[in-house]
Amino acid sequence: MSFERVDGVLHAESVALPRLAEAVGTPFYVYSAERIRAQLGALTAALDGLPHRIHFAMKANACRGVLEVVRGFGAGVDVVSGGELDRARRAGFAPDDILFGGVGKQAHELREALVGGVKVINVESPAELTLVAEIAASLGVIAPVGLRVNPEVDVENAHRFIATGEKGHKFGIPIGEAFAAGQLALASPHLRLVGLDMHVGSQLLSLEAYRHGATRLVELGQALQATGAKLRYLDVGGGLPVRYRDEAAPDLTAYATIVGGAAAALGVSLLVEPGRFVIADAGMLVTRVLYRKGNAGRTTLVCDAGMTELVRPSRYDAYHQIEPVRPAHGEELVDVVGPVCETGDFLALKRPMPVVEAGALLAVHAAGAYGSVMASQYNARPKAPEVMVDGAQWAVVTTRETYDDLARHDVAAPDWRQD
Ligand code: LLP
Repeated sequence: MSFERVDGVLHAESVALPRLAEAVGTPFYVYSAERIRAQLGALTAALDGLPHRIHFAMKANACRGVLEVVRGFGAGVDVVSGGELDRARRAGFAPDDILFGGVGKQAHELREALVGGVKVINVESPAELTLVAEIAASLGVIAPVGLRVNPEVDVENAHRFIATGEKGHKFGIPIGEAFAAGQLALASPHLRLVGLDMHVGSQLLSLEAYRHGATRLVELGQALQATGAKLRYLDVGGGLPVRYRDEAAPDLTAYATIVGGAAAALGVSLLVEPGRFVIADAGMLVTRVLYRKGNAGRTTLVCDAGMTELVRPSRYDAYHQIEPVRPAHGEELVDVVGPVCETGDFLALKRPMPVVEAGALLAVHAAGAYGSVMASQYNARPKAPEVMVDGAQWAVVTTRETYDDLARHDVAAPDWRQD
């Protein structure tokens, strides 16, 4: 399995975490290649028999080493910026492996996508359709576009910042305006309308949002097909949940029935864009306790990682399980905090944990998704390295940033101008 105790010591596959800490220092992220393949495999098995492709949502983790494992499995990627597109290409993904989405694509990013080629550009407004058509015309190409529709469904159980498909959210084309947008695309000689797309939210603990959203997209798709649209794809976005505390695993068979049924109703292939499901619990953040101190009747463990490495607890009130890497006993109530000068810099508050001393290593679970990608250099903290483990082998796949990296874009002697 991916993370287990061997003689009481937490391992990533066959590699002991203290060995990695000794080799690369702390904090660091560690990923299990086997777990990434297992999650992609489980989804593939559920979708078996349906024409489909998995496009890993790179926004969850854009580490080159992770992308190599995803590509090795045979999945593609979903990118949301020119930067992600560039990273996908560097990792060896071919044009047909890449979906390009995002609510605020700039003209240069659209041009990059059209020049290098992508499978679909998921467009989020009529104004963006017009811009894509103009750029395609100037390049002499026909742009393959999908309509990202906001199906305006209610989403249960999501933190309000990670729901995306409700009425009034900034994403996509409101369902009531999507048919007209489709007509606009069909009328342009520079656009080929190839798909419909939605993403209703993240960490979706119920399948109802998929069911409602997919029903609306099928109605829209059939109306567009009746006016001549030759659709090839139905893209249902990401959103499959993982266990942070005690959440149930998603029912992938029921999921496949819902989203696969919708694609079949339109006679198109299914595209899925899971991020969290693929990488969240394939990754851990390992940090060292620097200091212990008493505070308001409980213990504060000051660690060398915090909001700069994993912002989810302070940003979304997210729960991440934390456990000592080596065996520890007893129980006390602790605040696990980082070194950053912010009260909001914590990994867990009022958490019962076995008693550990300064110097102990702690493993923060399910930190593979929206961990390293949301890291910051706040307080001039170099970004932590990333380590991939595959069986008994391990490799640093992103090195730790240095002080020189922090200073790389400084202009020591500015070239002052007055134009
Ligand atoms: N596709 C689209 C268009 C998306 O907007 C997203 C996530 C995904 C796919 C992947 O969703 P997933 O399978 O990971 O749920 N930073 C937040 C999550 C933001 C998700 C944004 N969109 C967090 O840490 O929870």
